[in-house]
Amino acid sequence: MKYLFLMLIASTSLAAAQNGKALYTSNCASCHQATGKGIPAAFPPLAGHFPAILAADGRKYTINVVLYGLNGSIKVNGKTYNGAMPGLAQLSDGDLAAILNEVSISWKNALPDGQKPYTADEIKAEHAAKKTPEQVHDLRPAALK
Ligand code: HEC
Repeated sequence: MKYLFLMLIASTSLAAAQNGKALYTSNCASCHQATGKGIPAAFPPLAGHFPAILAADGRKYTINVVLYGLNGSIKVNGKTYNGAMPGLAQLSDGDLAAILNEVSISWKNALPDGQKPYTADEIKAEHAAKKTPEQVHDLRPAALK
């Protein structure tokens, strides 16, 4: 009986790791919206913008944003956002990879040429190097305006 219970838990977390859309809905959509368009002046868009972060060499930055949050003024498509995003370091490496992969390919977003989907191992390395939301802001590619 005890083993059955453990197996149930194991299979549930495996299913969650594979379900980027559900994870996005429960962890990101309240701010960035189901459409990925965000809310003007409050929550920046991910639709039509996330690939630009990746193309600007911001892959490590994106991992740190979801892990540790973000605090500091940013500009997206010429509009300023000066909010604070909470981190989600309590999620597993697999779940965070699934969310980032979902955001990479949703709403007509696509991975830039030559970039592969995020892996749990890639998240793990950043998960071990804790940062403040301000330190994450320092990682934002300067090319993003
Ligand atoms: C409570 C609201 C909230 C939640 C939940 C949230 N975010 Fe954010 N997010 C923000 C805010 C606000 C900013 C901008 C912070 C700033 O101005 O410093 C932001 C910034 C970002 C950025 C950086 C954009 C850029 O151009 O630098 C990314 C990427 C991002 N969020 C992805 C996500 C993902 C993926 C999730 C779910 C795992 C998520 N966010 C959950 C509010 C939120």
